[in-house]
Amino acid sequence: METALDQLLSAALTDLETIPDAKALESARVKYLGKKGSLAALAAGMRDVPADQKKSVGQKLNDVRSAITARLEAARTNLQAAADSHALDGIDSSLPGRTAFTGGLHPLTLILDEAVSVLRRLGFAVAEGPEIETEFHCFDALNTPEDHPARNEKDTFYFETGELLRTHTSSVQIRTMETAEDTPLRIIAPGSAFRRDEIDATHLSSFNQLEGLYVDEKVTLADLKGTLEYFFHCLFGKATEIRFRPHFFPFTEPSYEIDIRLEAKGKQPKWIEIAGCGIVDPAVFEAVCQSRGDHLFDPERVTGFAFGMGLERLAMIRWGISDIRLLIENDIRFLKQFA
Ligand code: PHE
Repeated sequence: METALDQLLSAALTDLETIPDAKALESARVKYLGKKGSLAALAAGMRDVPADQKKSVGQKLNDVRSAITARLEAARTNLQAAADSHALDGIDSSLPGRTAFTGGLHPLTLILDEAVSVLRRLGFAVAEGPEIETEFHCFDALNTPEDHPARNEKDTFYFETGELLRTHTSSVQIRTMETAEDTPLRIIAPGSAFRRDEIDATHLSSFNQLEGLYVDEKVTLADLKGTLEYFFHCLFGKATEIRFRPHFFPFTEPSYEIDIRLEAKGKQPKWIEIAGCGIVDPAVFEAVCQSRGDHLFDPERVTGFAFGMGLERLAMIRWGISDIRLLIENDIRFLKQFA
């Protein structure tokens, strides 16, 4: 019996040295270790082994099984390694990989993030309001009379209910003051605004604005100028010139339009209109007091400044984009430049 085991082992080891593929490996396993394999056949002979030898023969049987198992395992590993190295045939693994396109943020998002982070440093918090507005929040409370051209159906999208798509984010001023618990109040309101504008290189009927409002006991024009100068210097560089030009808005008095002039390489720099602003008209505070039913925003106690600007315009100036429509067309060739 022991001789038979020795013979089986040496036959198996020789056999297993030249296993060409996985199929041969499996049949070798079945041949030696399978239920009807050679080892099982010998094990059946254990019955006839004299009792005093059973232990050592049994031990030998186990040793032979382990040896064959180990060799089968080694052969399997070798086959796998050979297959792996084959898998790289014809492939130059030293070539640099193809970079996957990772996408990026839209220029409007980029400029908004930047604008918001500058204003947050100055203590402004982001406020929100609905895009479908009441006439009260969009016009009346902002001291905009019934016959003001902005309220015209040619300029504003109205619903049959009398509600409208907000024409500016200034409505968020009113909503925030209506629910404010205390002053001072410093908010910025970024968001969509809608006007029945003819679409061209500088106008869209749906665009984005960034409005700011600061209300406290002694807010002055100096605060307004300092804040906005700092803001535009952060956004467009310290060399940017800023000019406040008298203007009219129903909700601010005095009111200004802000023009900026950027350093332009090689070109004659020109003034570009960028924002509207002013000192909050007392009539706006009065409307808020009436709506709230208290005196937190009593115009005898508080003053404030407000400003508003188009985000698209900021992006266009920042990156020299000549047509506003590029910002909504989602042309990958355009967007890629910002990724
Ligand atoms: N709401 C004005 C606009 O849409 C901008 C503005 C905001 C002007 C706040 C003054 C104060 O043009």
